[in-house]
Amino acid sequence: MKICMIGTGYVGLVSGVCFSDLGNDVICVDKNKDKINLLKEGKIPIYEPGLSELVTKNFKNKRLSFSTDLKKSIKDSDIIFICVGTPTKKVGSSADLSQIYNVAKKISSSINRFKIIITKSTVPVTTGDEIEKIISKKNSKKKFSVVSNPEFLREGEAIRDFIYPDRIVVGTNDKKSNRILKNLYNPLISKGAQYLNTSRRAAELIKYASNAFLATKITFVNEIANLCEKTGINVEDISIGMGLDKRIGGRFLRAGPAYGGSCFPKDTKAITTTADKFKTNLSVIKSVIKSNEKRSNLLLDRVSKILNKKIKDKRITFLGVTFKANTDDMRDSSSLKMIPALSKKGAIIKYYDPTGLKKEFSKLKNVFHVDSIKKSIEGSDLVIIHTEWNDFKSINFKNLAKKKKFIIYDMRNIYSSSKIKSQGLKYYSVGR
Ligand code: UDX
Repeated sequence: MKICMIGTGYVGLVSGVCFSDLGNDVICVDKNKDKINLLKEGKIPIYEPGLSELVTKNFKNKRLSFSTDLKKSIKDSDIIFICVGTPTKKVGSSADLSQIYNVAKKISSSINRFKIIITKSTVPVTTGDEIEKIISKKNSKKKFSVVSNPEFLREGEAIRDFIYPDRIVVGTNDKKSNRILKNLYNPLISKGAQYLNTSRRAAELIKYASNAFLATKITFVNEIANLCEKTGINVEDISIGMGLDKRIGGRFLRAGPAYGGSCFPKDTKAITTTADKFKTNLSVIKSVIKSNEKRSNLLLDRVSKILNKKIKDKRITFLGVTFKANTDDMRDSSSLKMIPALSKKGAIIKYYDPTGLKKEFSKLKNVFHVDSIKKSIEGSDLVIIHTEWNDFKSINFKNLAKKKKFIIYDMRNIYSSSKIKSQGLKYYSVGR
């Protein structure tokens, strides 16, 4: 069985490389020639721990190849995964499906034998029905099957999440496609992954509902953290206490800045607009979106309080600016709201990120990138720990504070407050 991955973004590249590592022949296609040329040279366009090694290994043993020739790649393959982007539309909050439908049209004119066409991209419920309609204009329904098989990969943990998934969701009523996909995923199923065959529409909705639920969990604990700050309670005790109830579970209960990234903000908006279209009000998710959008301002108010409302000319350090650790992704990172707001109020900001300089801040006044933790902290009034990279977990603050003392605002609760306070430094965190 030959596999074709259309789109070498995060989902397509990671899944394609992992499928090839499981012994399949995989061709990854993208219309972006530069990207494909880079990949052929073994250079990876995204930051993902372990990915580069897997690409090199499977490219060398010829199980993995890269191409810009979509038609040929489709013709040569039996299983086609659509992994193109479904960003939020520029106007409104629904998902822009133009890339999905363009690809569907191209597939439609390249079907030479039976193909399983699978959406791995996150797509609103009924997208599979539309793809089927497009393809059946030129092809008999016997020649293809449209399946939904959403991905649940986290950036920074994507390879591990692919190899050890909690579940594999395959949405199809077609027995043949289900058999072929179960076989494809068998190496993961035999290691303990649950395989769920359901309807195509259900699979599409499972993806959105899962992301919306996780976003709700985070937002819930963030609001509880606000209450903890007012009542002298440690939010971590609450997360542990709640998480021990198996019905709740302890993961995704870490309080911190507003959630960000390529999925949660986009998917929470898309599921509510889809529901609106079907005259259903997803009011819980709508209030999660609102609460999360307000969160960066709330944290900025805290910064202002910590600095006694004097932000002008204050030297502020950001440790990490991406939306979370172990990624270079800036999409919907809370730093994109906080840094410009502080710069506008006259703060002088230095930031250090393990993944380097970010173009997003290059035009901002008084915002500087530095290339070490030490340089970023020296001379600072306030150090904000914005992401939870391991690099930030054992900083010798005592040493760095010898020349000039600074305040720490740990937005990820990495440090023990009593330990830092015992070093004579002022320390603030979230919900503690
Ligand atoms: C997410 C989903 O987890 C994944 O299944 C889906 O396929 C894509 O979207 P990702 O966006 O890579 O993955 O990151 P994730 O680790 O889920 O974190 C998302 C956001 O939530 C980040 O801003 C993170 O900092 C925040 N978060 C996560 C918290 O604030 N607290 C938590 O306890 C967990």
